[in-house]
Amino acid sequence: MRRRSVLPSHHDDAEKGGGKPPQSRLCFLATLCVMFWVLIFYFHFSVLAPDPDARPVAVASQARIAHDHLPDRVSNHDGLLRAPPAVVGMEEAPAAVVEKEEAPAAVVEKEDVPVAVVGKEEAPAAVAEKEEAPPKEYPFQRALKTAENASDPCGGRYIYVHELPPRFNEDMLRECHSLSVWTNMCKFMSNDGLGPPLSNEDGVFSNTGWYATNQFAVDVIFGNRMKQYECLTKDSSIAAAVFVPFYAGFDVSRYLWGYNTTMRDAGPHDLVDWLRKRPEWNVMGGRDHFLVGGRIAWDFRRLTDEESDWGNKLLFMPAAKNMSMLVVESSPWNANDFAVPYPTYFHPAKDEDVFLWQDRMRSLERPWLFSFAGAPRPGDPMSIRGQLIDQCRTSSFCKLLECDLGESKCHSPSAIMKMFQSSLFCLQPQGDSYTRRSAFDSMLAGCIPVFFHPGSAYVQYTWHLPKNYTSYSVFIPEGGVRDGNVSVEEILRSIHPDVVKQMREEVINLIPKVIYADPRSKLETLKDAFDVSVSAIINKVTQLRKDIISDSEDKDFTEENSWKYELLEEGQRTIGPHEWDPFFSKPKPKDMGADSGNSSAEAAKNSWKIERGDQN
Ligand SMILES: *[C@@H]1O[C@H](CO)[C@@H](O)[C@H](O)[C@H]1NC(C)=O
Ligand SMILES: *[C@@H]1O[C@H](CO)[C@@H](O)[C@H](O)[C@H]1NC(C)=O
Ligand SMILES: *[C@@H]1O[C@H](CO)[C@@H](O)[C@H](O)[C@H]1NC(C)=O
Ligand SMILES: *[C@@H]1O[C@H](CO)[C@@H](O)[C@H](O)[C@H]1NC(C)=O
Ligand SMILES: *[C@@H]1O[C@H](CO)[C@@H](O)[C@H](O)[C@H]1NC(C)=O
Ligand SMILES: *[C@@H]1O[C@H](CO)[C@@H](O)[C@H](O)[C@H]1NC(C)=O
Repeated sequence: MRRRSVLPSHHDDAEKGGGKPPQSRLCFLATLCVMFWVLIFYFHFSVLAPDPDARPVAVASQARIAHDHLPDRVSNHDGLLRAPPAVVGMEEAPAAVVEKEEAPAAVVEKEDVPVAVVGKEEAPAAVAEKEEAPPKEYPFQRALKTAENASDPCGGRYIYVHELPPRFNEDMLRECHSLSVWTNMCKFMSNDGLGPPLSNEDGVFSNTGWYATNQFAVDVIFGNRMKQYECLTKDSSIAAAVFVPFYAGFDVSRYLWGYNTTMRDAGPHDLVDWLRKRPEWNVMGGRDHFLVGGRIAWDFRRLTDEESDWGNKLLFMPAAKNMSMLVVESSPWNANDFAVPYPTYFHPAKDEDVFLWQDRMRSLERPWLFSFAGAPRPGDPMSIRGQLIDQCRTSSFCKLLECDLGESKCHSPSAIMKMFQSSLFCLQPQGDSYTRRSAFDSMLAGCIPVFFHPGSAYVQYTWHLPKNYTSYSVFIPEGGVRDGNVSVEEILRSIHPDVVKQMREEVINLIPKVIYADPRSKLETLKDAFDVSVSAIINKVTQLRKDIISDSEDKDFTEENSWKYELLEEGQRTIGPHEWDPFFSKPKPKDMGADSGNSSAEAAKNSWKIERGDQN
């Protein structure tokens, strides 16, 4: 009985207007026969169609049908439909999906029709389709495959650069006088962002390759270095990562003082709107995108919309949470910003300039055991700068270059570099934020840095500096200095001269990785800070893509512990308690969410002070 009620209704649909046939067995078989051939034809033209160009049209219209009918069919075709959803979106895929739905649909409605017939019809189609359906395809697989092409030197390393409208970059350079209220940035924009050349009157620098570079110039230096990258591509489908040449640091610095939050956030909103309309965005929701903001992360992490709060909220925007942003100081508790070195004054144009500099730093006389360039922080009870300055002043082994307000030697690149070149160790306590440009200037001079907080370098520049921090630096936890328990001089004097020599050699070997080469030329074999950063981004995106394919993304990842993940050794994937936990624990008000905290709020509030001097 049921058969009769089902089958005719199907007929009515299929052969509109045809009169109801008599319920004879003959007619039934004839119908089946027709259906069979319809399916064979369908299968032949649609599934096995040799001309791929002919397919999209059919696919599109069928996809629409499939979409309309999807809900009630899912249950019928459980087995067949399970795979497709993952595939949706791929050009190949919809065809497979539709075919699976369309073809059997007719069959299923006839489910009580003699089993043998149904089996014959359904089986070949289903088997063929199952074989044809790709396992699980992702649009970025083409890019991953380029790495397997042995004859392609750029395989797996292509970068696609968005062609942003000039308001996101070039226009800002034209309006350079408005980039900062404290400094006229115009002169620093010369020479592709390196600034004016430094003359070598004191014989401290080399004769070429030295510039009075502003510490916040990485936006433009990095952007110009990218123009020289050897594996740029116009084809985003083979790109290992996508670069967004937005001058994020310049954008925010224009509005840091005296502008409302609407003004400060305008650039980021505009950028994100632009990016999200691009087809490249949809490939990974922006997770293969990266950009540079040559300032500290706190300038882009405004916690609330209070007008008195510092900075813009770029790094809190959902789109920016998917991207990777390179900054000169990252947030230890966040996963979307990564620290890259501050620029130094040295921007060599060729390998040879670097080798000569390294040789010179190896052979220098270093009369001072340690030195410090900087200003105290009398308003900050937690700062150890006052203690360090006192210790330095009272030690005959220490050279001090005290920075006070106004002009002082502490703002002269030549005086600073000269002091670092005459010292074995250079003290690098926190300033108004964890990091300082000075750490890189001192390493460039072959001076072994002494850090007092792991946030000043060890959890920051994990791409550029060795994980084994004792190989190139000395760590003196700041608590001991603050309590007056620790003599820096004693600690440094107790290090064996052979060890000092080894550490200095390591520092000098690190020089290429922590400097930005002249963006108008290219180092032949050496990898500079730019090269290291780009290859780290590529590794990161490549790993993410592989994890997505193998469905092994770390579901337990807790962003608040970002700094611990950064310290993991190769292959390690789980984190636990860490000896530096006390340095990064923070009271966390619930309403502020995991993204915020007291330390970051404080750092943000203090970050304006950094603008006023390189070495402060
Ligand atoms: C491999 O790379 C070479 C050089 O770029 C290119 O000509 C060739 O088409 C690539 N092969 C494949 C299969 O993509
Ligand atoms: C923010 O400042 C701009 C210009 O300084 C002004 O046009 C705008 O109305 C201000 N917006 C708010 C919400 O105060
Ligand atoms: C961020 O990426 C996720 C995962 O790909 C995606 O679901 C989400 O839509 C993306 N966010 C934005 C703002 O595009
Ligand atoms: C770290 O470096 C120091 C000095 O080079 C060395 O003695 C030590 O064995 C290294 N530690 C590890 C874990 O490699
Ligand atoms: C410094 O010394 C005092 C007294 O010996 C001790 O109580 C304190 O814990 C020490 N501080 C540190 C950071 O070692
Ligand atoms: C952060 O902590 C300090 C004391 O360490 C306190 O004075 C300040 O109010 C706190 N700030 C916030 C935003 O909670």
